[in-house]
Amino acid sequence: MELNDLEQVMEVEQQSFPSTWPPTAFRREIQHNRLARYLVAVERRDDATGGDRLPRPESGVAGLGRFLGELRQILHGDGGLPPPDERRELVVGFVGIWLLADEAHIVTIAVRDSHRGRGIGELLLIAAIETALRERQSVVTLECRVSNTVALRLYEKYGFQQVGLRPRYYSDNREDAYIVSVDGIEATSYRRLFEQRRNEHRERCGDYELSL
Ligand SMILES: CC(C)(COP(=O)(O)OP(=O)(O)OC[C@H]1O[C@@H](n2cnc3c(N)ncnc32)[C@H](O)[C@@H]1OP(=O)(O)O)[C@@H](O)C(=O)NCCC(=O)NCCS
Repeated sequence: MELNDLEQVMEVEQQSFPSTWPPTAFRREIQHNRLARYLVAVERRDDATGGDRLPRPESGVAGLGRFLGELRQILHGDGGLPPPDERRELVVGFVGIWLLADEAHIVTIAVRDSHRGRGIGELLLIAAIETALRERQSVVTLECRVSNTVALRLYEKYGFQQVGLRPRYYSDNREDAYIVSVDGIEATSYRRLFEQRRNEHRERCGDYELSL
């Protein structure tokens, strides 16, 4: 996740959670929280006309990117984004991880509502577990609403188990949260499960480029 993803990230955030983080919270996380890793899933479309997600400055084409961005702002008048299907790079989901002393904690994960049910949430979870493995973390944990059966099934598929309950954890409706966790991700038995799930996902959803 980069600063110029934030406008699109906020769209996904607003579609996904009843009480949303402000853009400043994401900005602070990616700029100042050294323990945080935020990843976006991006759908690239070469035939789209929009100039939203600008190239990184070090790519050498930042000037052109900025020019296209400004042109887009003029064309769209309000300085906002072009419609999703006209964007060259559409942010379709994101995941945030905190690397704590004894665990990788998934603090947020969400998929654009038009893109749910296509394996993107699973891809984000794969990337989060991959990140934890690279950072030599052994445990991955998160909180999930007890009513969120879609998310709970996804975590269960990757070996997460319910290890606790936080009563009235969510302030909007005082719903309880399950604490779900997977331990020993570096162990051969878990790696075998992880590889198998990842290969099945690739076969079903196609290949992707993972830059961690
Ligand atoms: C939870 C969320 C991230 C899942 O993303 P997604 O891209 O729709 O999920 P995927 O297509 O990758 O599906 C992965 C697995 O999730 C589960 N799942 C997905 N859609 C489901 C549905 N409609 N019903 C039941 N299980 C479902 C399944 O286990 C599925 O694996 P399968 O395809 O082998 O059955 C997405 O629904 C979302 O953004 N929800 C709103 C935000 C949220 O609740 N985040 C989680 C906070 S803890």
